[in-house]
Amino acid sequence: MKQILAFDVYGTLIDTNGVFKHLQQMLGEGAHSFMEQWREKQLEYSFRRGLMDRHVDFSICTRQALQYTCSRLDVQLNDDHVDELMKAYTALPAFPEVEKALTACRDDGHKLYAFSNGSLSAIRQLMDHAGITGLFDGMISTEDVAMFKPSPVVYRHFIESTDTDKESAWLISGNSFDVIGALSYGMQAAWVQRSPDLLFDPWEYTPTAIIQDLTELPDALRDHSA
Ligand code: 2OP
Repeated sequence: MKQILAFDVYGTLIDTNGVFKHLQQMLGEGAHSFMEQWREKQLEYSFRRGLMDRHVDFSICTRQALQYTCSRLDVQLNDDHVDELMKAYTALPAFPEVEKALTACRDDGHKLYAFSNGSLSAIRQLMDHAGITGLFDGMISTEDVAMFKPSPVVYRHFIESTDTDKESAWLISGNSFDVIGALSYGMQAAWVQRSPDLLFDPWEYTPTAIIQDLTELPDALRDHSA
């Protein structure tokens, strides 16, 4: 059965570790810890803004989280460094298997969408830079509803925007909060567990499928389609 597939962007299609080489040049051995704390704070800011109903462009969460992480770790970055890192965030690489895996999903007749907290212009810029824009039937940003994942508002927006029923729509994400948000809303969801060290939250939700990378997605969709 042909499915509607919502692909999370940051951390699923696009590798946020792409900023690592910039941070390594600036910070040396502290780069990995800095990058992890920056990403965690960026997501925390999106969660808090969603709860406060105070939406901003996701790049503001990214920039403010960068400023916080610099202060927290007592790192002095000049304006040029900040601009370089923010620019790097707009030109992150796709994971290596993305083109092959999503082409296989298209060949199986599924409809593919990029679905992100990022603004539509940010999503387009990332997809264009990664050379994968042509793989998608559409791109949907949560900015349309001035909300962030994992609010049910954003998953409802995806379902309404693609005129589908939630039971036959899949969210594909490497971020467990996103997978749980989609499951809670009533969609199917595949968790992309790219490393065995990555843990899924011990909540009452279980992914419809767990895959190690996106090449396993076509089989997972076949195994779980009605
Ligand atoms: C997204 O792309 C932040 O990974 C999350 O919406």
